[in-house]
Amino acid sequence: MKSMLGKLAAALKEQIAGCNDLAALEIFAVERLGRKSEFNNLLKGLGALPAEERAVVGSMANRLKQEVQAAFDAKKSELESASAGALAEQERIDVTVPGTRPQKGHLHLTTQAIQEVTDIFRRIGFTRVRHPEVEWDWYAFESLNMPPDHPARDEWETFFVDAPVSVKNGKMVLTPHTSSGQVREMQKKHLPIRMINIGKCYRRQIDVSHVPMFHQFEGLLIDKNVSVTHLKGVLDYFAKTFFGPDRVTRLRPFHFRFTEPSFEVDISCGICLGTGKLDGGAKCRLCKEGWLELGGAGMVHPNVLKAGKIDPEVYGGFAFGWGVERTMAMKSGVRIDDIRVLYKSDFRFLQQF
Ligand code: DAH
Repeated sequence: MKSMLGKLAAALKEQIAGCNDLAALEIFAVERLGRKSEFNNLLKGLGALPAEERAVVGSMANRLKQEVQAAFDAKKSELESASAGALAEQERIDVTVPGTRPQKGHLHLTTQAIQEVTDIFRRIGFTRVRHPEVEWDWYAFESLNMPPDHPARDEWETFFVDAPVSVKNGKMVLTPHTSSGQVREMQKKHLPIRMINIGKCYRRQIDVSHVPMFHQFEGLLIDKNVSVTHLKGVLDYFAKTFFGPDRVTRLRPFHFRFTEPSFEVDISCGICLGTGKLDGGAKCRLCKEGWLELGGAGMVHPNVLKAGKIDPEVYGGFAFGWGVERTMAMKSGVRIDDIRVLYKSDFRFLQQF
């Protein structure tokens, strides 16, 4: 009996030592140490021995049982910590490894210019507004003193929307200029008006200096006793703030249907400072004669005020409007010889700004 117990215990300890994963150890525990195991049967058989022998064999059996149990417990905790270690190794994060930085973007060149223009006019009390890009003919042309079939409309190269015609407002168009916002603003019935309407405009044209979708900004001031000098003051303020303190504007007589009188606004050239000549006496290559054309302006025509239900006998005002892209391209330091590159989404170009 003693030797049987001794051999079995030794065999069990050896088997325990040979287990190399927790699942195998669990199976071993049930089969070899459980209630129905050979080991347990032997222990149970001790009761049948004569009293003297039982005392001796019993104490030996107890010792062996404890030894086997101790070997089992030690193996179990060894395997458990090994598997935790393996998991930790698998999921290890080295917090000292430099991270991958997210790529930093920036606002598009045009958006930057729009923000700058907004800010410049905000400082003298103009509020930025926005009006529809998909617009009625009435706001884009008729309310601006351009009756249907008027030849002046041809200049705007308009996109017409294939939609039902409105009896009151005519055809639907993609607005070809921000001037469409003038009468919309008047219809809000908040006087005086100091708006700067910046938005997308659309025309059927594409070449180095035109894109079919572009941006304009439109100033409109309506109040009592407004004169051309106010207009000139605002334009000069803009020119100096946006382009630099040494720049001035010049008004050239022109014709627009919605202003009277009307002007084209020029800005003194940043290279030759309005002289048309370079230091050595040669002709300035950028402007040729000292001035660069910015856009249109004038005193709001009485018919436009009437379309906006404003009494031209009491109120008057000025308006001006031109392209954001062009203005931006003219700013010193930014030379864009093909305006289409702005909307090609080519990082090599965009990342420079
Ligand atoms: N809307 C005109 C254009 O797109 C520009 C313009 C001219 C706007 C005279 C004005 C203005 O407000 O008074 O060509």
